[in-house]
Amino acid sequence: QVTQTLERLHAAGDLDTLEAIRVEALGKQGWLNALMKTLGKMSPEERQTEGPRLQGMRARVADAIEDRKAVLEAAALEAKLATEVLDLTLPAPQTPQGSVHPVSQVMDELAEIFADLGFAVATGPEIEDEWHNFTALNMAETHPARAEMDTFYFPERDADGNRMLLRTHTSPVQIRTMVGEGAPVRIIAPGRTYRSDSDATHTPMFHQIEGLAIDRDIHLGHLKWTLETFLKAFFERDDIVLRLRPSYFPFTEPSVEVDVGYSNEGGRRVVGGHGDAEGHAWMELLGSGMVNPRVIAAAGLDPDEYQGFAFGCGIDRLAMLKYGMNDLRAFFDGDARWLSHYGFSP
Ligand code: PHE
Repeated sequence: QVTQTLERLHAAGDLDTLEAIRVEALGKQGWLNALMKTLGKMSPEERQTEGPRLQGMRARVADAIEDRKAVLEAAALEAKLATEVLDLTLPAPQTPQGSVHPVSQVMDELAEIFADLGFAVATGPEIEDEWHNFTALNMAETHPARAEMDTFYFPERDADGNRMLLRTHTSPVQIRTMVGEGAPVRIIAPGRTYRSDSDATHTPMFHQIEGLAIDRDIHLGHLKWTLETFLKAFFERDDIVLRLRPSYFPFTEPSVEVDVGYSNEGGRRVVGGHGDAEGHAWMELLGSGMVNPRVIAAAGLDPDEYQGFAFGCGIDRLAMLKYGMNDLRAFFDGDARWLSHYGFSP
């Protein structure tokens, strides 16, 4: 029976046939098991020679099945490979690729520029309380600037009775950083800000980048140099025209507003290269100044020991100017055609 089984195995052309032979031979009801059962009726001497002989038969059959299985499987794989031909000359299907949004792109560029100037990146929550957003920044409850900020308030108050709001600027990060880290401080804080305002140059959600440097002996010259250096690096040109105007913010004293000159060339906004102010428009870019000593004190530092400068700059404005875009609202429409028009998709 062994010889016959081995012959049949050799002839088996597929895995199903092989399995049928295996069951017939080695299965519970198979002939080998039937033979095994006869061992019980034998004398001990007979069993001693018959037992090993039957085990040997089982092993030979099992080995032969394994061998044949390997051969059949290899043949099956060969056959499969032969039919599945890959044509490597066919063009690959085009998958559309995304790209970085101009706002994210600008944030990355700014983080890199300011890293070279020794500024770390700080963050704060977009849902703020009125102490960080206003009070600590020298805007008392009755301060008119609070009303001017077109604030989105939440109906609920926090556990301490503070009114909660969507931060109207990134300046609360100044407070959080000074309170949390003390001095000296050199940080930028890019992020989302909110005001209920909407036209071609204002959206209810927009982006700012805050800058803060606190140390001993910081003066206005440091602020001016830092702003000029950053704007030249950002716009990648040396002929940037800046206009510094005396201004007022409750949290800086003195305060300086900075505009950048641009012209419309071929319907695109282009910064720099205009010589004097003739024939070009100004875009308000940022507010800045020397940090008000009252703010330094509110954040728990000694204003007699530490001074500093701060600035808050519209990131979306920077992006519009750098990439020649005209309508701020398009930034947040999510229209892929607009992005690709300005070269923001491959
Ligand atoms: N927080 C001000 C704004 O949103 C900008 C600013 C920041 C001005 C820091 C001075 C200093 O308009």
